[in-house]
Amino acid sequence: MTYAAITGWGKCLPPATLTNQDLATFIDTDDEWIVSRTGMQERRISHVGGSDLGYVAAARALAVAGKEALDVDMILFASTSFDQICPNSSSRVQQLLGASNAACMDINTACTGGMYGLTTATAMIQSGVAKSVLVIAAEVISKFMDWEDRNVAVLFGDGAAAFYLEKSEQESGVIAQSLGCYGDSRKILSIEGWGADWTNQGLPYGNTVWDFHGQDIFKKAVAGMSKACEKTLLDANMDSSEIDIIVPHQANLRIIDALAKRMGASRENIFINIHRYGNMSAATAPVAFVEAIEQGQIKDGDNVLMPAFGGGLTWSAHLIKWRGGNKPANETDIDLPPCENTALEIVNKLRAVKNKK
Ligand code: ACO
Repeated sequence: MTYAAITGWGKCLPPATLTNQDLATFIDTDDEWIVSRTGMQERRISHVGGSDLGYVAAARALAVAGKEALDVDMILFASTSFDQICPNSSSRVQQLLGASNAACMDINTACTGGMYGLTTATAMIQSGVAKSVLVIAAEVISKFMDWEDRNVAVLFGDGAAAFYLEKSEQESGVIAQSLGCYGDSRKILSIEGWGADWTNQGLPYGNTVWDFHGQDIFKKAVAGMSKACEKTLLDANMDSSEIDIIVPHQANLRIIDALAKRMGASRENIFINIHRYGNMSAATAPVAFVEAIEQGQIKDGDNVLMPAFGGGLTWSAHLIKWRGGNKPANETDIDLPPCENTALEIVNKLRAVKNKK
């Protein structure tokens, strides 16, 4: 059997950090509310576009794998906040890396995007379409945020992660998964003004208003991720006691706790970084996975379960067999350009542009 081993990983978090106290300077909220309802303390705000974040994460993943840009057969770029729709973001990363042998494809399934990317990459490698794939998940949600709406403005942040996958005969990488979507509930998370449809209705592209039903999303998230985990374990003929670590999508600490309760899992077996980054949509679970690897919390031979959900409402769970430890082959000095502003300054500029429209 052919597998798609994950041999490279990298992340790129923009340096500017927006705290709960920063948010309270322009919306009616406070640290206590945000921490107790979501678990979030701070999030990153990007001074560059999502493809720049994705490029740096991808360069780091290639270095960890000890590969050159010309080794890449395919680039998959998962996001909801693409810099441009045409040309796509994967082609920009190809150009920046000099990965001229790679085909380029963008993926949008909202917060599950990085995970759907791992499925697509694995299937392409197993079917022989590609021998190696770079999966990138990057988001700059800050540009599309309705910063005056406290129901959503506190929940999201920017960031990116990337993985290099290559053909392997050893059991490795994604070994089981379950993907699905509650299409009938798609309207409970709708971003008006973010897509071609809205121009006919008088909303200029980018002038976003979030139609966001938090409590309904919360219930669907717990139900969808639980179902996905059950199906994935069944498919792998495994019991939840055989899972070494759960690395979930990080949208709300209470969602993670509710999922853990349903699965009979304890907090010690769950990787959590929501307090530092908030919800980075497609990049969330991938960044958590990279950090768990970097911190040595995932060891050779471990079974890693990764449930996720997002707009659509898409849901997923992936079972990953981890091989090869966590030692990078190389390092790269590729990095973001310096950031001249604080996160609050960047956000206030975005608010000023939007309020002018
Ligand atoms: N600060 C202070 N008060 C607030 C804030 C805030 N930032 N936001 C809302 N409130 C208020 C509300 O107005 C409400 O006040 P009211 O009772 O006077 O009307 C009160 O707090 C309670 O609001 P609820 O909506 O009941 O709060 P809840 O406990 O449900 O938490 C939350 C809201 C955090 C959004 C939660 O429902 C949630 O996390 N839902 C899931 C969101 C999610 O997972 N999104 C990910 C998908 S995104 C994607 O895929 C792109």
